[in-house]
Amino acid sequence: MRTERSMRVQVVGRNGRDIFKGGVEVPEDGTFADLKKAIQRRNSKYYPDRQRISLPLQPGQLRPTPIDGSKKLKDCLTSDRPQVVFKDLGPQVSYRSLFFFEYLGPLIIYPIFYHYPQVYTHFGLPERTFTYPVQTYALYAWCFHYLKREFETFFVHRFSHATSPLANVYRNCVYYWAFAGFIAYFVNHPYYKPVGETQMYVGFAISIVGQLSNFYCHVILKNLRTADGKSSYQIPDGFLFNYVTCANYTTEIMQWVGFNVATQTIAGYLFLTAATYIMTVWAVQKHRRLKKVCTHTSAHHQSVKFSPSNCKSYLTAVGVVVLLDYSQCYIYLS
Ligand SMILES: NC(=O)c1ccc[n+]([C@@H]2O[C@H](COP(=O)([O-])OP(=O)(O)OC[C@H]3O[C@@H](n4cnc5c(N)ncnc54)[C@H](OP(=O)(O)O)[C@@H]3O)[C@@H](O)[C@H]2O)c1
Repeated sequence: MRTERSMRVQVVGRNGRDIFKGGVEVPEDGTFADLKKAIQRRNSKYYPDRQRISLPLQPGQLRPTPIDGSKKLKDCLTSDRPQVVFKDLGPQVSYRSLFFFEYLGPLIIYPIFYHYPQVYTHFGLPERTFTYPVQTYALYAWCFHYLKREFETFFVHRFSHATSPLANVYRNCVYYWAFAGFIAYFVNHPYYKPVGETQMYVGFAISIVGQLSNFYCHVILKNLRTADGKSSYQIPDGFLFNYVTCANYTTEIMQWVGFNVATQTIAGYLFLTAATYIMTVWAVQKHRRLKKVCTHTSAHHQSVKFSPSNCKSYLTAVGVVVLLDYSQCYIYLS
């Protein structure tokens, strides 16, 4: 009869102390995913998505390298006393739940200020007695935007991470819900003064083009991945991605520029500033990560695409001076 051979892996925290006395027993031929399951058997609160397993740091290494769950233990743990470093990531929620809740607030809060003008009496103001067309169109634009995001969450995005820390739900909800209330309060205010008709139409036209382009960018990103979200990061191509690394952020910013041109409130512009700042920081990080990806794949067109004008990388990421940047690449390519 064939018996499965097993090995004992020492599981330590980042301070080097044992997490489980005597280590954890796993099949010798097992993977890191099997190790996570074995850890869960020792303590049921540590379900696999809550665990981060890495190899002990090597001299000179500052950050641990996360390990793919499909990797075989015996390929990475070669020492006689195999050891891994364990980090408890805390309670987790699925990415879909995180996105669902953060977008749900704006869909509830904003219409309250439009449909129930009596809320202003709680702020010591009179009820709004007249509704300008711009306030009605703003409601449609707002709801369309967040319904689109909910739709994308469930039917478009292919997330690579199954879960996110629970704390992010509170943080993101405060951000989206508070800004929804803040903007809705001013756009539907009883003393609101609308902009001229031409400005309103130009603003909403920019917003609609931004929203549709943003949706198309998300479809392009979706097609980079297999349905199980397993495949890694790739360099997006086509449409505005030929010019901008994170065209989905560029078009998101465009949509909020349009909304603000049409509605013109300080609250809206503050949101635009915060959103632009956040997306710029993320875009720069993603731009760097994709640059690394091309170095690894060393595909000729990809490395060329990212090579010129490092000084312009920041702008390239979010797409301000990008046209210049990439036209150089394409001239170089051709
Ligand atoms: N108003 C605001 O403050 C604000 C702030 C941020 C975002 N947003 C909006 O929310 C949308 C979603 O935000 P996000 O930050 O989650 O966008 P994101 O990181 O660009 O991700 C969108 C989806 O595409 C995938 N993806 C991105 N780049 C990829 C690549 N190179 N290869 C393969 N897949 C890739 C992501 O996978 P992973 O799961 O692996 O990441 C994710 O499933 C944005 O596009 C924007 O419209 C708004």
